[in-house]
Amino acid sequence: MARPLLIAADHGGFELKERLKKYLDARNVRYEDLGTHSEDSVDYPDLARAVAEAVGRGESERGLLVCGTGQGMAMTANRYRGVRAATPFDEATARLVREHNDANILALGGRVLDPALAERILGLFLETPFSGGRHERRIHKIDS
Ligand code: RB5
Repeated sequence: MARPLLIAADHGGFELKERLKKYLDARNVRYEDLGTHSEDSVDYPDLARAVAEAVGRGESERGLLVCGTGQGMAMTANRYRGVRAATPFDEATARLVREHNDANILALGGRVLDPALAERILGLFLETPFSGGRHERRIHKIDS
């Protein structure tokens, strides 16, 4: 059976990750928390790798990564084949990275994003389907 939504954060994203877990719990969305489990300093590439390897291999359909800005997580995750990590900053972008880019990892910034907006972005990331069509050809070109 496929693994559920995989989530991870570094110390800069720990607080937002914990808040987003409550958001997911309230909506009965299953997830696997791969860490970190405290605000002690850790290196975001280690946490990004745990999620990106599994999503890139197709073990899980989606991942959520949180660090201070979301950027280090996205930079790392996008080095893994098959990963399309996005850092949407508003609701329109959250919808479009799913519809047009078939983003499979959402990277958020715990130190820069309003937490209520982060919840709405996560909701859209999970609910919005990929549009396919001409976008299918374009996302294949990313990997080829
Ligand atoms: C950690 O201090 C911080 O650099 C990290 O959370 C993240 O923002 C990196 O992109």
